Amino acid sequence: MKQKITALYNIFRRQKKIAGLPIHIQVETTNACNLRCATCHRDLLYPQPTIMKFVDFKKIYDNVLPENINVSGLGEPLLNPDIFEMIKYAKNRGTAVNCASNFTLAGDKIEKIIDSGIDQIKISVDAADAETYLKIRKKNFYDILIDNIKELNKVKKLKKSSKPVLRFNYALQQDNIDQLIDTIKLAAKLKIPGIYIQYLEYINREDRKERLVGKISADKLKNILIEAENLAKKLKITTNTNIWMRDFDTFYNKMRPEGEFIPNNNKCYFPWFSSWIDADGTVRPCPIIPWQIEEAHMGNALKENFSDIWNNDKYQSLRAALAHGERPTGPCKTCIPQSLFNIFQIRTKLLPGRN
Ligand SMILES: C[S@@+](CC[C@H](N)C(=O)[O-])C[C@H]1O[C@@H](n2cnc3c(N)ncnc32)[C@H](O)[C@@H]1O
Ligand code: SF4
Repeated sequence: MKQKITALYNIFRRQKKIAGLPIHIQVETTNACNLRCATCHRDLLYPQPTIMKFVDFKKIYDNVLPENINVSGLGEPLLNPDIFEMIKYAKNRGTAVNCASNFTLAGDKIEKIIDSGIDQIKISVDAADAETYLKIRKKNFYDILIDNIKELNKVKKLKKSSKPVLRFNYALQQDNIDQLIDTIKLAAKLKIPGIYIQYLEYINREDRKERLVGKISADKLKNILIEAENLAKKLKITTNTNIWMRDFDTFYNKMRPEGEFIPNNNKCYFPWFSSWIDADGTVRPCPIIPWQIEEAHMGNALKENFSDIWNNDKYQSLRAALAHGERPTGPCKTCIPQSLFNIFQIRTKLLPGRN
């Protein structure tokens, strides 16, 4: 509770030096992956895969003691042999834990996943059939993924466990825009209560944009979002279509060439309540875009204490620039900061955490 009050105080005052520590952190427990998805910039950002050890996770966790933690970044968290020890460690200390996963490696880990106590898993599906999945995720693992979800549901029922709550992540692109409706139906069939529609980032890969989203027309996107919203309501599936509709021009501009992007006027609040930590301990300010530029390296949480980084000169000058309405670096300029209202909605409806 004290953390929440401090976070709210920091968010509203938006000063460069702030009280307390982040209420939320995202720790990239590995940047290794078993897939090579068409949209993903993991390979480009991390040519050398790293798997974080439990002892390093513990150092970071103990230093921050966050209310919420996401134990995935770019990379597949189920590839980390220490992942369940990490989740249990955080859960035993009262932290709400979630992660994103491609869930293709879950088959022999279902019991461990449930027993870890993890609150939520955001399963990246991106398709309503095997053919489209293969096109986007580059491996023929669709049936395995669906079987793993069914098995998780079955074992949850046997164990009378309400957790983990599942959510679909849907990275919207021209190869899957026509499958959004069927994926919402699939979510209902698999008893998955939410679907989060993710717009694509193109960090240093603007060359991919035309192929991934260049042919989506504004009318088509709008119509599909409206249809998706209506269907989701009918099937009682939570989505973020309302956020897309509210800021439609900004989201749509994101699909156009970079020079045509017009940022929304939302203030960025992330460096006041959240932080991202890479598998090698590098601290970055932003859980949405892991900035691959030197000036966005705030420090290293394995070499120093996170608490010394959180208010260091770099963090303070970033906050000062953002508070003055600047978009201080390249990635900030094409970012779509969520409004406080949207963050609250995503947090409570699509990322329920403790329940
Ligand atoms: C990078 S993955 C890491 C976790 C895990 N390996 C997975 O696929 O869920 C996290 C989420 O980012 C999404 N993603 C992939 N490429 C993206 C891009 N270029 N822009 C935005 N999100 C992307 C994925 O679909 C996934 O839902
Ligand atoms: S599974 Fe996740 S981390 Fe791996 S390549 Fe795909 S999006 Fe990237």
